[in-house]
Amino acid sequence: RVRAFASSAAAQTAVDRVAVIGGGQMGAGIAQVAATHKHDVTLVDVSQEALERGKAYMAKSLGRVAKKKFPDDAQAQGRFVDEVLSRVALSTSPAEAAGSAGLVIEAVVENIKLKQDIFAGLAAAAPEGAILASNTSSLPIAKISEQLSAARKKRFIGLHFFNPVPQMKLVEVVRTDEADQQAVDDAVAFVKGIGKVPAVCKDTPGFIVNRLLLPYMMESIRLLERGVASARDIDAAMKLGAGYPMGPFELCDYVGLDTIKFIVDGWHKEGKGLAGDKQFAPSAKLDELVKNGHLGVKTGRGFYEY
Ligand code: CAA
Ligand code: NAD
Repeated sequence: RVRAFASSAAAQTAVDRVAVIGGGQMGAGIAQVAATHKHDVTLVDVSQEALERGKAYMAKSLGRVAKKKFPDDAQAQGRFVDEVLSRVALSTSPAEAAGSAGLVIEAVVENIKLKQDIFAGLAAAAPEGAILASNTSSLPIAKISEQLSAARKKRFIGLHFFNPVPQMKLVEVVRTDEADQQAVDDAVAFVKGIGKVPAVCKDTPGFIVNRLLLPYMMESIRLLERGVASARDIDAAMKLGAGYPMGPFELCDYVGLDTIKFIVDGWHKEGKGLAGDKQFAPSAKLDELVKNGHLGVKTGRGFYEY
C-alpha cells in the first residue's frame, strides 16, 4: 500500500488513491496492477464505452492471473477478479478522479498538446503533494509539464510501464532536472509496492528501453521493405536466433502501429539529438498501415491479421 509516501508531503493527502487517465491497453493494465496491490483506483476515459472496454481488458487479464493463482478453484478465481475490480472506479472526469489521489498517472494517446492540456486540468484539481506522472513512450517529461508551477514540477515524473503491464516487470522512473529527490524516492517505492522493478533514468528521448527498441523495430521494417525476407521469417529469425519472446513485427503489432508512428515521427522532427536521424525517417509501409487504420492487435490487423 502507499506506505511509499509515508515520509513525503503526499502523506497529508489520501495517498491510497491512484487516478489513471486513459483506459486503453496501458491505462487499464496500470489500473489493474495498482488495484491488485490494494490501491483504490479511478480509471478515466472519454466515454462510458471506452471505460467499459478498459474494464473488459482488466477482467480478461485478471482471469489469466486468477487461473494461475487458484488453478483448481473456479470460485476463488471469480472472487479474486471481482475483489480487484471492486477497487477500480470508472469516471469520465479527470478532475473528480484526481481530487483525492496521491498519485495520478496519465496514459492517453501519444500527443503532446493533449497531455499538456490534461495536466493543466489535473494540476488545478489534484491535492498539493500528489505525484503527477506520465506514461509517455517518447515525449520529453519536462515538455509535458512545462506549463505547470515550479511546485508541481518538483513532483512531476515519468512512470513508464511496459506492455502487457500485468506481465512486464520493469517500470522506468524518469526524472527531470526539476524533479526533487523525494518525488523520485516516492515513485520508486510505489513501483516496488506494486510488485515491479524500477529503473531510474534521465529525461532523454526513449529513456532506456525505447531508445534501444525503436531503432531495432524500424530497421526490421526496412528489411521487409527492401525485400530481404518476409515478416514471418524475420520474426522467426529473431525468436529462434536471438531468443526474443516475440519477433519485431509481432511486437510492433502488439505495441500499436499508431504509437510507433507517433514516436518515430516525433523524434525525426524534433527529438533532442535525434532530429533528422535517418533511423527514424518515415517508412512507407508503416505509414500506409496506419493510414488504413491497421494499427495491430488492437484493431485486428497490422503486419499480421488477428
Ligand atoms: N495479463 C495477464 N497475464 C498475461 C498477459 C496479460 N495481458 N499477457 C501474458 N500474460 C501471462 C500469461 O498468463 C503467461 O503466464 P505464465 O507464464 O505464468 O503461465 C505468460 O504471461 C506468458 O504468456 P503466454 O504463454 O500467453 O505467451 P508468451 O509466452 O508468448 O508471453 C508475453 C507473452 C509476456 C507478452 C511475451 O511474448 C513477451 O514478453 N513479449 C515481449 C513483450 C515486450 O517486449 N513488451 C515491451 C513492449 S515496448 C513497450 O511496452 C514500451 C513502449 O513504450 C512502446
Ligand atoms: P490506447 O490507444 O490503447 O489507449 C489510449 C486511451 O486514451 C484510449 O482509451 C482513449 O480513449 C484514451 N483517451 C484519449 N483522449 C483522452 C482524454 N482526453 N482523456 C482520457 N482518456 C483519453 O494507447 P496505449 O497503447 O494505452 O498508450 C497510451 C500511452 O502509453 C501513450 O502515451 C503511449 O505512448 C504509452 N505507452 C504505450 C505502450 C504500448 O506498448 N502501447 C507502452 C508504454 C507506454
